[in-house]
Amino acid sequence: MLPEQFGIVGVARSEQTTKAWIAAMKKAVQEHSRDEFKQDVWNGLAESMSYVATDFADDEGEDAVVEVLRGLDEQRGTAGNRVYYLAVPPAAFETIVTELGERRGAGDGWTRLIVEKPFGHDHASAEALNGILKQWFREDEVFRIDHYLGKETVQNMLALRFANGIFEPIWNRQFIDHVQITVAESIGVEGRAGFYESAGAIRDIFQNHLLQLIALTAMEPPIDFTADSVRNEKVKVLRSLHTPGPKSVVRGQYGRGFVEGDEVPGYRDEEGIAAESTTETYVAAKLYVDNWRWADTPFYVRAGKRLARRETTIAIQFQRAPHPPFAEIAGDGMRPNVLLIHVQPDEGVSLAIGAKVPGQGMSIRTVHMDFLYGGAFRTGLPEAYERLILDAMLGDATLFTRADEVDEQWELVDSIVAAWRRDRPVFPNYEAGTWGPRSADELIHRDGRSWRRH
Ligand code: BG6
Repeated sequence: MLPEQFGIVGVARSEQTTKAWIAAMKKAVQEHSRDEFKQDVWNGLAESMSYVATDFADDEGEDAVVEVLRGLDEQRGTAGNRVYYLAVPPAAFETIVTELGERRGAGDGWTRLIVEKPFGHDHASAEALNGILKQWFREDEVFRIDHYLGKETVQNMLALRFANGIFEPIWNRQFIDHVQITVAESIGVEGRAGFYESAGAIRDIFQNHLLQLIALTAMEPPIDFTADSVRNEKVKVLRSLHTPGPKSVVRGQYGRGFVEGDEVPGYRDEEGIAAESTTETYVAAKLYVDNWRWADTPFYVRAGKRLARRETTIAIQFQRAPHPPFAEIAGDGMRPNVLLIHVQPDEGVSLAIGAKVPGQGMSIRTVHMDFLYGGAFRTGLPEAYERLILDAMLGDATLFTRADEVDEQWELVDSIVAAWRRDRPVFPNYEAGTWGPRSADELIHRDGRSWRRH
């Protein structure tokens, strides 16, 4: 999908030659690409690649980058168009954005800035970052990544809701009892101690991925599928989200245990983690969306590391059938309908319905009507980043987070974290390989409901 007029420039602090960098990139593609490695395609790409070693604090570094980019304009006809991909430590952000901004030539083609997470660590710092960006770039030039939005199954939420006539009329408080969203991971911190210790599950997953999943589930139909129409609707949801109180948010940290048969250390024993760390690796919350569609309908969400399995799902639980006309015994098997969106793995959608068990009498059991991507489309799903980076190159910001969304996301997180500061959690409080702390079960049991066990 890449045009002929294209080039990639790697920029980092490590000293290495372009040749060594290209070799490392080739190895990475060979190891991780989901498609078969094709030498001729690689050759075409490798020709366009160069590497610049620089520390961004050093002015000459940017000049070197600018020079390489100008060279590409001449040799490859890139016409001054630039996509900068900022996967950089937060501390380097201001310098880099300022340096790039200062070197922006007038009328030199377009510029797009892809910004990786973490986007700040609270509302104030995110606002400051947005302020710096705004100084040099327009909002439509900024692409804040939340890679969950690039997942096919997440986008399918929009198709499911707005390309089908049957769901929207019942997609509200009158028919839906509650919504459950689970982002469960079986992995631990994977050598990212430095980042994770200061982030925790609330900043790593809840602030971005989880809240975006809520926004897509709860939003009103947009008038069209343009970036601003979609994001206008999402931000309204984020603005109307609240937790009913500190007891509606619980956190946890894993101790040692067994995950998928292997013994794993507790969080505090992972490399680079403080022995007394109070960073949470699990968070669960009950949230409400204060609007006409959703008032009083709880959204229960949970995210955690070192849980029993990797699994991201959105479960829409409908209300019970109002009156079962069957004998009491038959009614025992009657459960509410659930529409289950499997974001990953086993991507698909499944509707739980009650069906009659064959044979005498009227006994009811829950069965599933399933749509599986693998079966229906017979094609591998692209990685989220493939879609997102291409969208950024095309200038389509629909699947990126706008500044006002980030603001709202942080405001909610700030209010939760402020309440946490008052007490010291007793950690660890769940064993690796389980489904999280007991307090998360209590949170939902108090309402007479329970987490789905899949
Ligand atoms: C990242 C988090 O944003 O998402 C990681 O920083 C997490 O901690 C990852 O593991 C999960 O992504 P995915 O696509 O594997 O669900």
